[in-house]
Amino acid sequence: MTKDLLSINDLKDDLASVISDSIRLKTESGPKKSSKKSSMSGKNVVLLFEKPSLRTKASFAVAVQQLGGNAVYMSPDEVQIGKRESVSDVGKVLSRYFDVIVYRAFSHTTMVELAEAASAPVINALDDLEHPCQIVGDLMTIKEKKGDLKGLKLAYIGDGNNVCNSLLLGCAIVGMNISVASPTNHKPSEEVSNKAKELTSKSGSNVDILTNPFKAAENADIIYTDVWVSMGQESEREEKEKVFLPYQISEKTMSNAKPDAIFMHCLPAHRGLEVVPEVIDGPKSVIFDQAENRLHAQKGMLLASLK
Ligand code: CP
Ligand code: NVA
Repeated sequence: MTKDLLSINDLKDDLASVISDSIRLKTESGPKKSSKKSSMSGKNVVLLFEKPSLRTKASFAVAVQQLGGNAVYMSPDEVQIGKRESVSDVGKVLSRYFDVIVYRAFSHTTMVELAEAASAPVINALDDLEHPCQIVGDLMTIKEKKGDLKGLKLAYIGDGNNVCNSLLLGCAIVGMNISVASPTNHKPSEEVSNKAKELTSKSGSNVDILTNPFKAAENADIIYTDVWVSMGQESEREEKEKVFLPYQISEKTMSNAKPDAIFMHCLPAHRGLEVVPEVIDGPKSVIFDQAENRLHAQKGMLLASLK
């Protein structure tokens, strides 16, 4: 693994062990208790956010505290990154105080710029290209629910966004098959799709980029969706809400998947848009286990970044 964790692919061969370590940390501590070992005692972590957050901010703050460290949140307004101060100066200054920088950015370019300037490891807490923290937690959830990851099929139906890009890479690394169905103009990054296909030559799984949601869902073990309009893309809402309607996850979509398929969504969700309430609030949905596992998975990631 590299110093920084900007892409899920930066974990490379460590991804499987980070997932196992996160499951172990969960078993040891439970959701609301401190871990036995104070593995981050004396360590300070900054949570630098340019965009809103519920799960990522809260779960990182609790993860650091439960590992015996200290977390400081810096809001978009107070730092005004790139406006009040250059991205590079922010990275250099924060590295003088903090052992880890957890950064949520609008742009992946800014994420890379900050990481290049910072001497402290940087963890990507979401940008416009990837959301690695989400996908480590998701793969952990799938492992808990299904026992093993290799050979499973995940169908991602919806916008080819940051979550979709990290899922493509994460599934390819662990040997899961992934079928993505998105409207023609909203496919995942071509560079990321090609990278995922390259990774499958090692792991032996398949990557399919499709437009037909029912074809993608066929025989899937997991049906996954995300919002149609990501943070920062609000001007596209009107166009997207029309184009994406055929991609709404309904009971019909679920019936194309395996009978024991689970439904996943990284949240926040919009019931009646990307998914109907009967599915997201139904018996196949694992969304709150997914949300809880962000806490455990990020402990695994924090410890990996400090190795
Ligand atoms: N899933 C997720 O990252 O949620 P937040 O945007 O609330 O952190
Ligand atoms: N794709 C969404 C994920 C939110 C956790 C966004 O970027 O807004």
